[in-house]
Amino acid sequence: MTASIQRVLFVCLGNICRSPLAEGIFAHLASQNETQHLFCDSAGTAAYHIGKKPDPRSIDVARSNGIAISNQRARQLQDNDFEEFDLILCMDRSNLSDAVRQKSSGKAEIALFMTYAAGETVDVPDPYYGGPDGFDTVFRMLHEANQKLLDKLA
Ligand code: 4NP
Repeated sequence: MTASIQRVLFVCLGNICRSPLAEGIFAHLASQNETQHLFCDSAGTAAYHIGKKPDPRSIDVARSNGIAISNQRARQLQDNDFEEFDLILCMDRSNLSDAVRQKSSGKAEIALFMTYAAGETVDVPDPYYGGPDGFDTVFRMLHEANQKLLDKLA
């Protein structure tokens, strides 16, 4: 139990594939688990896709699992996120080193998502240049690990 953590930010590169799914799955599971005190959001380390909807392949895999993410819009990780969030969970080690480098002040703990949530030091693979199978894999990883994360934070 880590009750002091209430605000969680999921971070990937573009904020259109992995972190919007992480946010949508986390919010969905939290709403089912009476953990409404938990707030989550997502962001990308890069500016490529600011203002865009999630990738259609992320929207599809979420929708086919009963989760709506199409209202999300991509944004870039900002300096004040390190003040405003308790926990910043990065999808891969490249995102992690970028986030650590960007932080100049703030209370946020920064960690690799799979390590913090599930105790597995692996990246959530970037599915952007692959086919739809990659999005299924990412969805399954995020879903399973987010259940563990919620048990930890509830
Ligand atoms: P994400 O995936 O970091 O999971 O949102 C990517 C999205 C876009 C690009 C790379 C990864 N891109 O190079 O545009």
